[in-house]
Amino acid sequence: MTPDSGLPAPSAPRARTALRTHGFTESVIREMTRLCALHDGVNLAQGFPDFPCPRELKDAAIEAIERDVNQYAITWGAKRFRDALVAKTRRIYGLEYDPETEVTVTCGSTEGMIATLLAIVNPGDEVIVFEPFYENYGPDAILSGAVPRFVRLREPDWSFDPAELARAFNDKTRAIVVNTPNNPTGKVFSRDELTLIAAHCQKWNAVCVTDEIYEHMVYDGLAHVPMATLPGMKERTVTISGLSKTYSVTGWRVGTVLAPPDLSLAIRKVHDFLTVGAPAPLQEAGAAALSLDEAYYGRLAADYAARRAYLVPALEAAGFRTFQPHGAYYVMTDISDFGFSDDVKFARWLVEHVGVAAVPGSSFYSDPAAGRQRLRFHFARLRATLEAAVERLGSLRARIATSAPGR
Ligand SMILES: Cc1ncc(COP(=O)(O)O)c(C=O)c1O
Repeated sequence: MTPDSGLPAPSAPRARTALRTHGFTESVIREMTRLCALHDGVNLAQGFPDFPCPRELKDAAIEAIERDVNQYAITWGAKRFRDALVAKTRRIYGLEYDPETEVTVTCGSTEGMIATLLAIVNPGDEVIVFEPFYENYGPDAILSGAVPRFVRLREPDWSFDPAELARAFNDKTRAIVVNTPNNPTGKVFSRDELTLIAAHCQKWNAVCVTDEIYEHMVYDGLAHVPMATLPGMKERTVTISGLSKTYSVTGWRVGTVLAPPDLSLAIRKVHDFLTVGAPAPLQEAGAAALSLDEAYYGRLAADYAARRAYLVPALEAAGFRTFQPHGAYYVMTDISDFGFSDDVKFARWLVEHVGVAAVPGSSFYSDPAAGRQRLRFHFARLRATLEAAVERLGSLRARIATSAPGR
């Protein structure tokens, strides 16, 4: 009792927020975007295009809304969209999926990944993740109760040590997450690497969860190899992708999950309770997107290859050392020649004094020290935007001399 009020003494203050959220850090990408707006910079941090999506998608979306496709779609995805995805997957990869039992349409691949992990992981199960990794995978592991086991992708070619991979698997391993083509490194996993991963999955009865959102952005004559095409893997692979990157519509929030029926059933249940369904009219437009002819994907990759060919040498000329990406639309760079003690300091300085935003490398590692001299740029930008960034980067060395004392 408190002496004067007669009321019970208040108990010790208790956090009003769940412990699981305490491990999440505010996204540095968001901070960079905010600073970029503040300093009127060129944003090469957050990976989304600044150019329009194909006309066919806009027309199909408008037409769907005009037709009053405004209510919930079937929770696991509009039939037209699932059918179109199955047809495209057959056409491009020769893989056969049943649209009724093996396809789930989610709110972006982001929801596809968390729904999958919630559907297959019991708290305490181990999930192997290659690092550097796309920054959502960390919180995904926390939310699903997974214990992440990291396997390092090693510079300069981002290959992994087969012995380290073998050590990561054990009888607690529930799944491995493979992102190819890869964010942030631009690595495209080779057939041999995927075959090795597949052998471990089979040996340890683990599920392979592949994030193939950049499947159509592969350069230098390389080919994207979907894990599900490897012998014995379709029945233990969850393939996640979506419309965001391939069709330049990151704000539409339409993702796809292909998985065998037992896994799809569990993923669909989680998805139903998380979001009920992805936007109905945009799934209709998505069906039009998935039906574009093959030439579209060739043009997409050629356009991105041209952007890469412009930005990467320009970064080198500005004093960065670069790791040539072979897929996706990112380039990791080494900033050690600039003499800054850490990547976050450098990224903040760069946006403030040079006017270009990029992402500190430490945000892609479980041990931030591993990324302290790394910075990631993206090139999903109009040529004019990239030119504006390159022009600003031209002043970088001079500005370091004048406005970066005590770095
Ligand atoms: C590897 C990777 N997966 C998933 C996403 C998110 O995709 P979506 O827009 O489909 O949620 C991104 C976005 O940057 C990404 O880089």
